[in-house]
Amino acid sequence: MSAPIRSHRQPTTLTEFLYGSPYYPEHWDQATRAGDPELLRAAGWNVVRMAEFAWDLMEPEEGRFDFALFDDTIERMAAHGIRTIMCTPTAAPSRWLTVRHPEVLRVDERGRPLSHGSRQHASHLSSVFRAHSRRITRAMADHYAGNPHVIGWQTDNEMHCHFSEDHSPAAQAFFVEFLRRRFGGEIGELNRAWGTAFWAQTYAAFEDVPTPKPDCPTYLNPAHVLDYRRCLAHGAACFQRDQVEILRAANARWWVTHNGCFRLIDYSGEFGADLDFLGYDSYPSFEHNPETRRFGQAFNMDYARAFSGNMLILEQQSGPGGQGDYFLDNPEPGEMRRLAYVNIARGADGILFFRERSCRFGAEEYWCGVLDHDNVPRRRYREAAQFGAELARVGPAVLGTSVEVSVGVAGADFASQWGHQPITLGLPSPRNVAETIHGHFYALGHAVGCVHPGDSLAGLSVYFVPHFAVFDPAWISGWTRWVEAGGVLVIGARTGSKDLNNNVVAETFPGALRPLVGATVEEYGRQNRPDKRPLTMGFAQGEVRTEWWYEALRPDADTDVVARWQGRHLTGEAAVTSRRIGRGAVLYVGTYFTAEVVAAIEPVLNQMGALPELAVPMPGVETVVRSGAGKRLRFFINHNGTPSRVVLPSDGHELISDVPVAGEINLAAGEVAVVWEDAKTT
Ligand code: GAL
Repeated sequence: MSAPIRSHRQPTTLTEFLYGSPYYPEHWDQATRAGDPELLRAAGWNVVRMAEFAWDLMEPEEGRFDFALFDDTIERMAAHGIRTIMCTPTAAPSRWLTVRHPEVLRVDERGRPLSHGSRQHASHLSSVFRAHSRRITRAMADHYAGNPHVIGWQTDNEMHCHFSEDHSPAAQAFFVEFLRRRFGGEIGELNRAWGTAFWAQTYAAFEDVPTPKPDCPTYLNPAHVLDYRRCLAHGAACFQRDQVEILRAANARWWVTHNGCFRLIDYSGEFGADLDFLGYDSYPSFEHNPETRRFGQAFNMDYARAFSGNMLILEQQSGPGGQGDYFLDNPEPGEMRRLAYVNIARGADGILFFRERSCRFGAEEYWCGVLDHDNVPRRRYREAAQFGAELARVGPAVLGTSVEVSVGVAGADFASQWGHQPITLGLPSPRNVAETIHGHFYALGHAVGCVHPGDSLAGLSVYFVPHFAVFDPAWISGWTRWVEAGGVLVIGARTGSKDLNNNVVAETFPGALRPLVGATVEEYGRQNRPDKRPLTMGFAQGEVRTEWWYEALRPDADTDVVARWQGRHLTGEAAVTSRRIGRGAVLYVGTYFTAEVVAAIEPVLNQMGALPELAVPMPGVETVVRSGAGKRLRFFINHNGTPSRVVLPSDGHELISDVPVAGEINLAAGEVAVVWEDAKTT
């Protein structure tokens, strides 16, 4: 089931930078629809995405298909140079399907079936639902196979965005078959791998293994939970694969993508491997604090890129948005465009603003788009049009390039992230800690990004591994070669302490990493009240407060001690070690990476010459380089509310204003520059 990791440096296969929006002809009357192609084209749109929630229209009764509304819309859009991404509509199955086949409904852990009335209520694990999914996909694929205006497909919509579990009889049957294959039909293998001797869980047959029900009545076996999560991810991948195979067979020129990124989907594994490239939905205002919003956006983009390289942004927030009891900030003037440039800088090969116009009804009647409910073009439309005009130059330039990373943070691995959840010990997840590390280097202006531990580390100077307790020893050989060639690996506490079944390893920690680290863990423990019983690490620059966790280390003879513990019974014990290997080194940090701990590691890295020098620090100006295909583009994004002077490391051509630049430039508040280095003309 494992698939090769696609590089974080992989561009999409798109041959044109796509710009547009999801479009819902089913929400508007004919008169409104009639004016849309011209309005959208005038703002630079070259693509719309359609039909992800329109199963009821396309198949009003089982077996009777009607694509007239979409056929007509596709034609009229095409007449204005706007092409179409079609979607399979399986995120919202028609009511006739759930009336006739209530067995397709997901069932929650309390045994309650989900119901019609919102979306994502049908189960990927249901063979009945899969058969209907194949049927509607085949009908759409056959119908559009010869349509030159349909350029690619999105499968479903944001799988697992609302709900990922399922405890229906169908899910139970799928789980049993999944386990039978995973353990080669040997129930004894399952018992061994899960440690079922604990709490009398031994199984006599695969059929006896239940789907794990959280908190019913209390804590579950973490191996059982992780395999159930793998099963849910596998189910989503199988469900999608049905659709992908049908679409590819109908028209080999179509590309296929899916809009992530959500819980329990293996984007860097089999799910992503079936796609041409990954899609990503970007809603930065879920971070309510405008001061820190850009940190979260940069991290989310970088984390998504670690799954499989550049992506198509199928939805980017374009207005205030709300459902139920929340309503996100309306982007300030210029913010929507600036956030779009951040996404391009960090790996987007296309941007679709969600949505073209705010709908007047339904659960998202306050999810606002580029146009307001009254269809009057206002500042967000004008901003989108300005951005569209700029993309005529920026768009073609970025294609074929990918984002340079020098400080990498391990992320995007399914088992280490989702194996953490069943038994967190109250500790932050690898992803949460990755965000802390990322934020530190992002604020300084380093080229920081996330990289999957199985990906090539070529080009990185430093690689942080944030507490990957669940650990795949297969990663070690690639890491070793990279360290020997000069890389500096910084490994956080608990890494390597569990196997891929989510059981604790038998070897002394850090388990399989011991030879690389050159130290062992003599004692470990939680820091439950660090305010009452403080523990500090003594670095050359002084004492640093720690939180969450401590490990007392025993270094091998050829391993140096970088910091020692101070406090409790640990005073004098090794806390951080460093081992030289070839031209590089491995640091092991015996605590959790908090902002303070990362800040203390930074001078150690500097002293080792591991961190690339920063040309001129420009606080508040995000700087990212995309390179490849013989091009080198440097993005400067001024997040400050004041103008900023930007020193150019290299002369070039600024694509937004379309002028040659040299030396330095002044960026107005909130402005962006994209410098094609050493290019005299576009
Ligand atoms: C996305 C989803 C869209 C819409 C949007 C705004 O998560 O794909 O269908 O719901 O958010 O809520």
